[in-house]
Amino acid sequence: MKVYLETIGCQMNRLDSELVAGLLRACGHEIVPDRREADVVLYNTCSVRQHAEDKVYSRLGADGRRKSTHRPKLIIGVLGCMAQREGQNLRRRCPQVDIVCAPGQLVHLPELIASAAEGRPAVALDPPRKSRRAGPPVGDIDALDLGRDPQATPTPFQAYVRVMRGCDKFCSFCVVPFVRGPEASRDPTHVVEEARRLVDAGRSEITLLGQTVNSYRWRAGELEVRFSDLLGRLAGIAGLRRLRFITSHPIDFGDDILEAMRDLECVCEYIHCPAQSGSDAVLKRMNRRYTRAEYDCLVDRAQDIVPGVVLAGDFIAGFPGETEDDHAASAELIRRCGYKNSFIFKYSPRPGTAAARRFRDDVPQAVKKRRNNELLAVQSEVGLAHHSAYVGRRVEVLVEGPSKRADKQAAPPSPESMQLTGRTRWDHIAVFDGPEGLAGRYVYVDVTGATDLVLVGRLSG
Ligand code: SAH
Ligand code: SF4
Ligand code: F3S
Repeated sequence: MKVYLETIGCQMNRLDSELVAGLLRACGHEIVPDRREADVVLYNTCSVRQHAEDKVYSRLGADGRRKSTHRPKLIIGVLGCMAQREGQNLRRRCPQVDIVCAPGQLVHLPELIASAAEGRPAVALDPPRKSRRAGPPVGDIDALDLGRDPQATPTPFQAYVRVMRGCDKFCSFCVVPFVRGPEASRDPTHVVEEARRLVDAGRSEITLLGQTVNSYRWRAGELEVRFSDLLGRLAGIAGLRRLRFITSHPIDFGDDILEAMRDLECVCEYIHCPAQSGSDAVLKRMNRRYTRAEYDCLVDRAQDIVPGVVLAGDFIAGFPGETEDDHAASAELIRRCGYKNSFIFKYSPRPGTAAARRFRDDVPQAVKKRRNNELLAVQSEVGLAHHSAYVGRRVEVLVEGPSKRADKQAAPPSPESMQLTGRTRWDHIAVFDGPEGLAGRYVYVDVTGATDLVLVGRLSG
């Protein structure tokens, strides 16, 4: 069958979609880029904010209308986090949906599609998780990953590798522990083997994924493999030039990881470690388990131990009870850390979370919006200063391909010289002119200018 698969959400979802696409192809299905030519339309969904769910409901509405007017056999499926959060409700609310498949059940998707094709709607959910004491995950946590085709990554020179599933942190605002289930680390030999196969297939930049990737811990009898040990094992793979990891939780960032970043050449000096707020009172209500002073201390340790380390963050604006002083503390933290970039979100109450139960969503929309914009403006200033500090330096860039500007130009750009984009090891985006054929190569770029989000430069001779 022809399958259209759209992904909403984080890198974890993007990786799941890649693996699902590989699995479906192996079962004889074809992945098509246009939903209008598809027999099966699948959405891999996110529940982290209401906005992400609204987007899916609007797509489902349009597909439902098409199905009832001229495509009665169209199969519609909802996969991922929202499938788990909404469960059977999804089919009650949208009867046009044939498949509901939770993140831990994706390996069964081919059977679910077969069932739907025979007119039997299929719902596959993970066991519900009410609390931290819900027990270990069931089933193979890496069944989907183990069957991976190393040639099927979206680019031929980069790859994501999952090191753990789920989350046990239970930040009060967050649905992830409920939709992704208990935290579970993969067997390190599986992770290393998968990475080795990817590197052998030409993927020289690998990004390790986990909701709290640095909390990775594998135990087997006497043996304990910590995240820093895993980095050490992966760094031994010949041909692996860049090893990154996202996203980190501040409380699990020991010096051992910082030392591994310093000592292992391929490990990139880049830390995405969300603070969420700069205020102790808010951090406490968020159940983030660290104080502002502890976060400051982590930043100091990172800067002391890892020369040239680059930081990125996440912030939530307008969490319940956030005062103007709390908000000012977040702005001040952005300045103090000099983040390369931050992801800044307006608080969105999520049903079932502790924050939605315990705290009234009492910051008015207009105030949330203003605070969100103010944090964005501070980040933009800080981002400009951060990027400007690279002007005059020569940086190594992994070329990713033509930039969006080159793609959008009316006249086709010459393959000999067009605007290219790529990344430094510190995760900066760099734009510069060069031949298209450089995609996938490591080049040196002399940085001549900067914006709040990118380095601008020219290929070094
Ligand atoms: N595991 C990652 C983040 C997962 S969700 C971590 O712990 O850092 C990605 C980001 O979405 C979070 O860092 C947070 O900033 C934001 N987020 C999560 N729940 C939210 C909510 N209810 N409202 C607004 N933003 C939210
Ligand atoms: Fe959500 Fe907190 Fe877990 Fe991140 S650490 S996924 S924000 S519960
Ligand atoms: Fe969204 Fe699920 Fe990722 S809720 S942020 S897609 S883990």
